[in-house]
Amino acid sequence: MKAISLHSYKGGTGKTSIAANLAAIYARLGHKVCLLDYDFRAPSLSVLFKPNPRFWLNDYLNGRCEVEEALVDVGKGLGLRGAIFAGFADPSTKAIRDMMTKDRAWEMGALHRTLSAKRAVQRALGADYLIFDTSPGIHYSSVNALASSDAIALVMKGDDFDIEGTKEMVQGIYEVLGRKAGIIMNKIPMGLIGEGEEGFAKGIEDALRIPVLGVIRCYCELMAMGGRSIYALDRPDHPFSKALEGLSKRIAEM
Ligand SMILES: Nc1ncnc2c1ncn2[C@@H]1O[C@H](COP(=O)(O)OP(=O)(O)OP(=O)(O)O)[C@@H](O)[C@H]1O
Ligand SMILES: [Mg+2]
Repeated sequence: MKAISLHSYKGGTGKTSIAANLAAIYARLGHKVCLLDYDFRAPSLSVLFKPNPRFWLNDYLNGRCEVEEALVDVGKGLGLRGAIFAGFADPSTKAIRDMMTKDRAWEMGALHRTLSAKRAVQRALGADYLIFDTSPGIHYSSVNALASSDAIALVMKGDDFDIEGTKEMVQGIYEVLGRKAGIIMNKIPMGLIGEGEEGFAKGIEDALRIPVLGVIRCYCELMAMGGRSIYALDRPDHPFSKALEGLSKRIAEM
């Protein structure tokens, strides 16, 4: 099994959209995918899948259930050869507040439980991929997901000019954890792509010292959907879906 985190320094770069589409692409190929919403500050996967889970991932991390009990088969009816089992962060205000006031000792326990969850989805579920959608920045829950992943995809936007902050995060966390990492440049304006694409990617690679896995254009129609559609399934011929298909192969090889 390969565990991958979609992470970023700043918010709104496309982590959740990319996580859901990657899960769909791997499952369409016949793989078993476990998709976990580790953005406890702003849960988003529930907006897309509208689940009615018996338990949230919050319950699992609080020791109230097993991880399998917090997973919902969201791939049913999507025409996939494989499957997607998703675990959701509780979007209620009470749960978000609760998760934001956890202390360091609790977060250490949550790291152990996240690592146990990784073993459980591999053994009990037979998952081929474990995908974590995380919150931007260096909040504990994100670091717990990164530490439990084999590879990190750092999603950056075209206007992410805070290279220094991003660099600090890559060196202070990704390198310290010793995880393989690659950059996905997303929402890149047309003018920056095309002939200048290679130079553009090279500049980012040189600054952050990790490879660029792919560059995805900014598509207004995606913004309008606001993450309510899995493009790879709903519009498989759309260039966003095609770009993610290419990325799914490069991420699998990381
Ligand atoms: N390539 C793209 N072009 C245009 N819009 C995009 C693209 N990728 C994602 N979006 C849109 O950007 C918005 C934010 O995307 P998403 O929620 O996936 O980002 P995020 O990194 O998960 O955000 P957050 O940090 O708040 O969790 C959504 O409306 C999504 O549809
Ligand atoms: Mg998100």
